[in-house]
Amino acid sequence: MKLIIETTKPGSYINPDIYGHFSEHLGRGIYEGLYVGEDSPIPNTDGIRNDVLEALKEIQVPVLRWPGGCFADEYHWMDGIGPKDQRKKLVNNSWGGVTEDNSFGTHEFMRLCELLGCKSYVNGNLGTGTAKETAEWVEYMTGTGESPMTDLRKKNGREKPWKVDYFAVGNESWGCGGHMRPAYYADLYRHYATFIRNYDPENPIKKICVGPGTEDTKWTEVVLDACYEDTPAFEHGFMDYITIHHYVVPENWQEKGSATTYPDELWYKALHKAGIMERIINKNRVVLDKYDPEGKIALCVDEWGGWYDVEPGTNPGFLYQQSTIRDALIAGITMDIFNRNSDRVKMACIAQMVNVLQAVVLTEGPDMVKTPTFYVFRQYKHHQGANYLPTMLVNNKTEGPEDWKVPVVSASSSVKDGVVTVTMSNASMTEEVTVDVDTCSEKEYEVIEATIVTASDIRAFNDFREEEKITEKRFEGFAMEDGGLKITLPPHSVVMMRMK
Ligand code: AHR
Repeated sequence: MKLIIETTKPGSYINPDIYGHFSEHLGRGIYEGLYVGEDSPIPNTDGIRNDVLEALKEIQVPVLRWPGGCFADEYHWMDGIGPKDQRKKLVNNSWGGVTEDNSFGTHEFMRLCELLGCKSYVNGNLGTGTAKETAEWVEYMTGTGESPMTDLRKKNGREKPWKVDYFAVGNESWGCGGHMRPAYYADLYRHYATFIRNYDPENPIKKICVGPGTEDTKWTEVVLDACYEDTPAFEHGFMDYITIHHYVVPENWQEKGSATTYPDELWYKALHKAGIMERIINKNRVVLDKYDPEGKIALCVDEWGGWYDVEPGTNPGFLYQQSTIRDALIAGITMDIFNRNSDRVKMACIAQMVNVLQAVVLTEGPDMVKTPTFYVFRQYKHHQGANYLPTMLVNNKTEGPEDWKVPVVSASSSVKDGVVTVTMSNASMTEEVTVDVDTCSEKEYEVIEATIVTASDIRAFNDFREEEKITEKRFEGFAMEDGGLKITLPPHSVVMMRMK
């Protein structure tokens, strides 16, 4: 098999936000996972766990989306500000019916972004919130002049406005966000987006519109049509991004399949479904190209990842699942797709950051473990802010049962500061694959770093209180032969190589 990398033809900029994260008030995603409170015996900074913070810094989180998800459309931001002992306690109707004490609110989220050094993506409440609430939340966070909301922020201890990078009008408004029809949502979007004011014209808030959650693009078409009536939506200042949600549910939504004890068939089904991401992006690209040929509005895949049956014995509403090398492959295949489509895809958020779905970090009391997905994020961080290099695989094979076949190798590459980063995965459960690299240049490249994420057992996972089995290790399966680079990818592995 040949891997052609057009090293002399750098293409689209890979927005670092493609490597973003999502954290919702869901199960132990925020509480316990990220936030333990200032008085916790677990070492923390302003209530945020130090161990998790340190881990997340390793993968350079560029942006964090909060507070939901479905939860966002029932979140009333005023419940989460002011003295903690006076914050409203309520029931989290979206997830497990547990008590939400609102101890993690706007101030805590902004502090978390500050500690991570990442951008803030706030998801507004369209389902049960008013336009007034939206306007006031934005004013509270970013207002500069003298006004009731700015004064309230100052009273609550924050003098300076925060920078809100992104604000979304609702979440999955076709589903948990209100079961709306696209034409109705489109009108609400125009209405609510109007009140996301820019108090700091130097740093305008980018506005995010809800997009589809299936391959059907009718939603995208109707919403864009309504928002582009008379004038392009971006000229109205209505829209910067439209979202896509795509989950890898190996079996079906009723019986999703286990995170760790899957039959071989579900290995392929899951990886096949990960690959469908590219089709969804392309279908939406066609609609966007019709309305916005100049590419002013970007795609934001703000929920993606594997979704399995919860771990036995855990609350079904908490969506807590373990993670294996299959998840590492899902991450590699998906992030290669984002790189390839980085001319239109400018942001993506894995669902979710900690303890929920395809998390990068899991916690149990004071213990923490990094998942295989974490290590793939660490490998792919080198693509952040680089330029995509056209990457082609010649004679790639497929493997797996009929209807669920998977291309054996996935790859993408980029260049930044003269260093080429190539990421590749081998989806075969059993066979190694040899790849000859053609860099389309006379230059003799030297490999300066090479790592691999793999496992001896495809169902193994990193468990608490034992040495992590699946990590990022040094990779030596390559050689210069006849002036060219030959790479041998072991079965079920994700490899990252950097050369200059
Ligand atoms: O990520 C879990 C849930 O999946 C989100 O709350 C919702 O937007 C989606 O259906």
